[in-house]
Amino acid sequence: LASIEFNLAGIEEGQSVTIMWRGLPVFVRHRTPAEIAEAQAVPLSELKDPATDQERTKPGHEQWLVMIANCTHLGCVPVGDSGDFDGWFCPCHGSHYDSAGRIRRGPAPTNLVLPPYEFLSDTLIQIG
Ligand code: FES
Repeated sequence: LASIEFNLAGIEEGQSVTIMWRGLPVFVRHRTPAEIAEAQAVPLSELKDPATDQERTKPGHEQWLVMIANCTHLGCVPVGDSGDFDGWFCPCHGSHYDSAGRIRRGPAPTNLVLPPYEFLSDTLIQIG
């Protein structure tokens, strides 16, 4: 199937799930207000692959982060709620991603990739 629908209703604030889309793992995280504020406060000049938090999320749905769950270095799946930037840590070679999934330290060249997706309602997304 090219696209899937996924219901967000059961994901508590601060919780992440991993779902599959086109054979790829995708992280869906319900961010806390603190995680959002932290991500929005980072100056673009500190980023290796500059992107604002707004560019990483959908307007009006900033609490949701939807990203392909493969490290952009060599494809391992990073661990959530870890690393030095309150996001994800890839144990394969030590890449740290922040609470917007942006690369902050380590060998990964770019931010975690965003799949094409849209909100069908406040609690339903379509990926692909
Ligand atoms: Fe993640 Fe190398 S695959 S740091």
